[in-house]
Amino acid sequence: MRTSEQTFPADFTFGVATSAYQVEGGIENDWAEWERAGRLKEPHARCGRAVDHWNRYEEDYRLATAVGATAFRISLEWARIEPERGRFDEAALEGYRERLLKMKACGLTPVVTLHHFTHPTWFHRETPWHQAESVEVFRRYSRRCAALLEGLDARVITFNEPMVLLLGGYLQGAIPPGIADGALTMKALENLVRAHVVARRELGERLGRVQTGISQNMLAFAPDRWWNPLDRALVRLGGQAYNHAFHEALSTGKLRVNMPGVATTRVDLPEARDSVEFVGVNYYSRAHLRFVPRPPFIEFKYRDTQGRGLTDIGWEDWPEGFLQTLRDVKRYGKPVWITENGIDDRAGTRRPQYLHTHLGQVLAARAEGVDVQGYLYWSLLDNFEWLEGWGPRFGLYHVDFDTLERKPTPACDYFRQVATGKRLVAPL
Ligand code: FCB
Repeated sequence: MRTSEQTFPADFTFGVATSAYQVEGGIENDWAEWERAGRLKEPHARCGRAVDHWNRYEEDYRLATAVGATAFRISLEWARIEPERGRFDEAALEGYRERLLKMKACGLTPVVTLHHFTHPTWFHRETPWHQAESVEVFRRYSRRCAALLEGLDARVITFNEPMVLLLGGYLQGAIPPGIADGALTMKALENLVRAHVVARRELGERLGRVQTGISQNMLAFAPDRWWNPLDRALVRLGGQAYNHAFHEALSTGKLRVNMPGVATTRVDLPEARDSVEFVGVNYYSRAHLRFVPRPPFIEFKYRDTQGRGLTDIGWEDWPEGFLQTLRDVKRYGKPVWITENGIDDRAGTRRPQYLHTHLGQVLAARAEGVDVQGYLYWSLLDNFEWLEGWGPRFGLYHVDFDTLERKPTPACDYFRQVATGKRLVAPL
C-alpha cells in the first residue's frame, strides 16, 4: 500500500459502539423474559446489572475519549421509555437526555440507535412486527425519541441489524419473539421498513435535517463446496436477501426477497425510496453456506480457511470480506459508516492485529472510492452477548464481571494511536 493509502482524512470519525441492554443494567424487557424462560445457550445466565453503564456512564465516556474516540454509539431502551403501551416514562427520557448532554460535553458525538434488538414486554403480545399496528406504535415511540434528541446533533440509527432480528426472532425462533414462520417473517420485514420510514419522518419534523440510517449486519458469504451449484445459488440468493434486501428497499422503494422454500416477498414501498442519509455496516466475518435437502435447506458454518484460527466466539477472521462488503454498498451512492466491527478475543492479544487488518480494508475501500466516513469499534467494554451470555469479550476495555472494574486491553493503545494520528500503523 502507498503511504497516502495509510492515512485517514482529517474529518474521518473514530468511535466506539454499545447497546443499551448489553451494558446498562436493570432493564426489564423481552430479553429478560427470554432469559428467565431458560432460552440462552447457558440457561442460567442473566444480563441483570449488565456492566452498570447506566450508573457508570461518566467513567465510560472518559474511557472512550482516552482511546481517541470522538463518537459514541448507544441505543435507547424502548422498554425504559415506554414500559406500558402508551405510557412514556419522563424520568427515563430525562435520564437519557442528561447522559447525551454529558456525552457531548466530553467531546463525543452521539450516535443513537432507536431499536437494538429489544422490545418492551408488551410489544410482541399486543402489536408484534407482523401486524400493521407495530408501525404506528414505533412511530409514536420515535416521536418521543426525536424530542429527546433536540439540539444534540446526533446521528440516528433507527434499527440495528433488522435481518438478524428477523432471522433469529421470526424465522428460526431462537430469539424473542421466538416465531418460526417464513410468511410472518416477510410481513414483519415489510413493517420494519415502514417503521424506519415513519421514524425518519418524525425525526426530520422535529430536528430538521438529521443523518438517519440503519445498521445492517453484513456477512461475506462463500459456498461450502465451491463446485456445488446449489451451494452457489444459496450464496447468491441468501447474500442478496440477508445483506441487501433491506438496504435496497431503503434506496429503491422495492422490497425483494427470493429464497424459494424459505421466504419470498415482492412489495413496492414507494415511501421508502431514498430514505437514508448514510449506509451503516456491521461487519464481523464470513460464513460458508451449504445446501441440505430438508428445511430450512441451509447449513451455515464458520470455517478457518486461512489457519488464522477462529475468533473465540467461533467466527472466521476474514478481513478480505470487509473490502468486498464495502465495495458492494457503493451502489447505494451514500456515505458509509462502519457502525460495528470487532473481535471476541478473551485473552486480549489478537485485537490489535484484527483492528490493523480490518482498518486496512477500510482504507483500501476508500482508495477505490467508497465514501467511508466513520468507524465505530464494537465495543468499548466487554458486555452481555445475547444468546452467548457472559462468555465473549469484545471490549477495548476488559471488564471484571464481579467487581465491574474496567481495565485497558492492549488494543486501547493501538486504537488511540490510529484514531488520533489518523494513520494506520502496524501494531507492535
Ligand atoms: C452484533 C450486534 C451487537 C453485538 C455484536 C457482537 O450483531 O449488533 O449487539 O452483539 O454483534
